[in-house]
Amino acid sequence: MAATKSAYQRWDIHQRLQHIGVFSSFTLCAITGLSIKFNHAPWARSIVDFFGGFETMFKWHLFGGLILTLACIYHLVWMAVKTWKGELGWAVMPTLKDFTDLADHLKYQLGLSEQPARFDRYSYKEKFDYWAVFWGMFIIGGSGFVMWFPEWGASFLPRWLIDCWRVGHSDEAVLAVLVIFTWHFYNVHFNPDFFPGNTLWFSGLMDEQVMEHEHPLELERIRQEVNRHGSI
Ligand code: HEM
Repeated sequence: MAATKSAYQRWDIHQRLQHIGVFSSFTLCAITGLSIKFNHAPWARSIVDFFGGFETMFKWHLFGGLILTLACIYHLVWMAVKTWKGELGWAVMPTLKDFTDLADHLKYQLGLSEQPARFDRYSYKEKFDYWAVFWGMFIIGGSGFVMWFPEWGASFLPRWLIDCWRVGHSDEAVLAVLVIFTWHFYNVHFNPDFFPGNTLWFSGLMDEQVMEHEHPLELERIRQEVNRHGSI
């Protein structure tokens, strides 16, 4: 790939703040929550001690849950405002092309094709990460608040559903942590395009040579716009 200093604005300041809010609070919830779940393990005891005891650690868990929820609400409000102003397209919605991209990507990875999948604004991997937060928040966030305010939860939910949701909170948390620290981290930090790390979450910028690899169709569109109008 040719070296170039050009970079494209991919995330505005609001998207960066939303992402920082989500990842910092998620990490806090994961560390404290998993120490509750595996409280007999020696590593969990060290974490409980670090927080100054179980009670305080649990308060930090709830604080993390609150920040996570507020970051998600911030995102929804931001999306609503952008849509209202006509500044947000539908690029993040799943399409048939995502399935053909997945097949093309697999064929390329397995050496059955010379041509890698060509992604537009969001690849199927990015869409998967994005939409996973919605179902994750429904299961983890919903159950978290029902357990936090049990009288409120019991006022409209049957007991068996609350019990299922409690198990869901715990198991979905393990699944979410595994997905984030393997799949998501590989795709955004450790894949050869980004290794040893990706600073987009902080700068909002993606280098042109990375765009050529990761979002070639979007880059083509931007270049056509620039040729037509001189700028975008
Ligand atoms: C809105 C966000 C959240 C709220 C309100 C919340 C609230 C809670 C509450 C009240 C408990 C105690 C459950 C009980 O009484 O048995 C708990 C446990 C737990 N939480 Fe969360 N939580 C949230 C997000 C998260 C996240 C993001 C993770 C991890 C990624 C997580 C992982 C856990 C785990 C592993 C437990 C222990 C469950 C067990 O005992 O097996 N939580 N949470």
